[in-house]
Amino acid sequence: MFRDIDRVLIDRERIASRVHDMAADLADDLVRDMGPAGPDGEPGQVVFIPILTGAIVFVADLIRHLPFKLRLELVAISSYPGRSMTSRGAAMRSALPDNLGGRHVVIVDDILDSGRTLALITSLVREQSPASVRTCVLLDKKVRRAEAITPDYAGFEIPDEFVVGYGLDYDGYYRNHPDIAVLRPDAISPKGAGGGA
Ligand code: IMP
Ligand code: MG
Repeated sequence: MFRDIDRVLIDRERIASRVHDMAADLADDLVRDMGPAGPDGEPGQVVFIPILTGAIVFVADLIRHLPFKLRLELVAISSYPGRSMTSRGAAMRSALPDNLGGRHVVIVDDILDSGRTLALITSLVREQSPASVRTCVLLDKKVRRAEAITPDYAGFEIPDEFVVGYGLDYDGYYRNHPDIAVLRPDAISPKGAGGGA
């Protein structure tokens, strides 16, 4: 099983505990923003936008800690096309919902790397005049930043290593690995395999 995994960088227990704490911070901030009526006051006030495909595992765990009404709107963005392991620039692969005006929007991604993905989606969301926009990433590879973007919530800062698991893929695989891990060098194609959205 998972013979291609070299070592675990962040194990499932640490992930679970950090996701729990991040959800608590997020809930505090959203509830404060929403005032006395709270997020349940008006349906659809809070909208979570996970970026497919990498964010699916993280967002599934995150939202189950949040005890109020929210909606999910999925958006697909690709930045690591084909088998590349470095960002080639972000491109929208699906339409953004057009009803974000006045909403409290939380954009969720698995990892912040060059920052192109979050820069793109954040600017498109802002065009709709939401009440607030927050960005929430599980991993932050700070050293690789090309865009001036700082996440509002970040789970772990990691070094410049290509990681898989907990939603993150290489060539479409390993998203189901429960820990964040590094692949064995011989599992990576010399031409630079890997990477989905
Ligand atoms: P950015 O646009 O360069 O910030 O890239 C963010 C996207 O690239 C994330 O949504 C991931 O899908 C992908 N990505 C960045 N680093 C890694 C990694 O180490 N493993 C797997 N996917 C990654
Ligand atoms: Mg992604």
